[in-house]
Amino acid sequence: MSVKRIGVLTGGGDCPGLNAVIRAVAKTAINDHGWEVIGIEDGFLGIIRNRMHPLSMGDASNILTQGGTILGTSNKADPANFMVGIDEDGKPVFDDVTPRCIEHISARELDVIVCIGGDGTMSGASHLISTGIRCIGVPKTIDNDLMHTEVTFGFHTAVQIATEALDRIHTTASSHHRVMLVEMMGRNAGWLTLYAGAASGADVILIPEIPYDVDVVCDYCKTRSKRGKAFTIIAVAEGAKPIGGEVVIDQIIADSPDPIRLGGVSNVLARQIETNTRLECRATVLGHVQRGGTPCAHDRVLATQFGYHATELIAAEEFNRMVVMQDAKLANVPITDVADQQRTVEMDDPLIRACRAIGVSFGVSGL
Ligand code: F6P
Repeated sequence: MSVKRIGVLTGGGDCPGLNAVIRAVAKTAINDHGWEVIGIEDGFLGIIRNRMHPLSMGDASNILTQGGTILGTSNKADPANFMVGIDEDGKPVFDDVTPRCIEHISARELDVIVCIGGDGTMSGASHLISTGIRCIGVPKTIDNDLMHTEVTFGFHTAVQIATEALDRIHTTASSHHRVMLVEMMGRNAGWLTLYAGAASGADVILIPEIPYDVDVVCDYCKTRSKRGKAFTIIAVAEGAKPIGGEVVIDQIIADSPDPIRLGGVSNVLARQIETNTRLECRATVLGHVQRGGTPCAHDRVLATQFGYHATELIAAEEFNRMVVMQDAKLANVPITDVADQQRTVEMDDPLIRACRAIGVSFGVSGL
């Protein structure tokens, strides 16, 4: 089969670098291969609702540095489990709308779809693959939690944004002699908090992979204070939880395939630390600012490499693979190996060892 027309979609939460991938895919497809490129709007929602439009060289120009995605995205459009209405009790009703998707893909004569997204998007792609539709995956997420790739694009930009925020918190913490908590995204993975915490010299780093002991955190703050260090910076992941306790949930999004939104642990901890230590505490939740704006240079390069490699796979007719970075080299793995899985921080990660060696607390005795 020779490829004539490819579809491109961006799914799940947005992140810096999506447009850089779209640009690399579209320009290589048009320039190097003469393929037509169809932009699918709002991730899988565009397939479900048949909302797609051609992408020209002009559309792919001047978007390298632009944050967000020119195609739009959705994290609620799983073709196998799509919300089609609400029942009389007000509960969402889900249905498998795959046949509709197959019809729209075939009507548009898409030979392959480049799916740029995280684990949820790879799960949607795996489902399409099971029906015979060809896909290529490109790994994105600020969480850096996709299996089989040591890095996803968007991560380094988010680390940079969070680090700048922590640096700013540092000066105000020092002026007011306070314990300052900064909460970062990442779902159940602590990569973003670990990297930004290390980069900004945080005193305490709390990540989901290492449940914390609140007494250890309080003792650490008190000891610093007694030693004359009048402030403490705590980098805390939204998915951090106490030993034997639960994560703090901000919201449940009923029509999302991944309905739980985490958030608020820094406020809970701030009150606990204040009560226990009598030190003044403030919490800052960074939120979506971590996902917005222009990608850093590293992510622009990575996104360009990933997008180019995606088109190489199509040209070689190596379908249903996701581009990955392994040992700092581009490679690819079956998309089905990545779907619905998360890569979390290992306890013996070299960065955890380095942080421990310089006296960072992970909120638990002995670590
Ligand atoms: O997966 C990316 C991410 O930003 C997570 O870090 C965060 O938990 C979640 O998405 C937030 O989702 P939403 O944009 O739906 O609030």
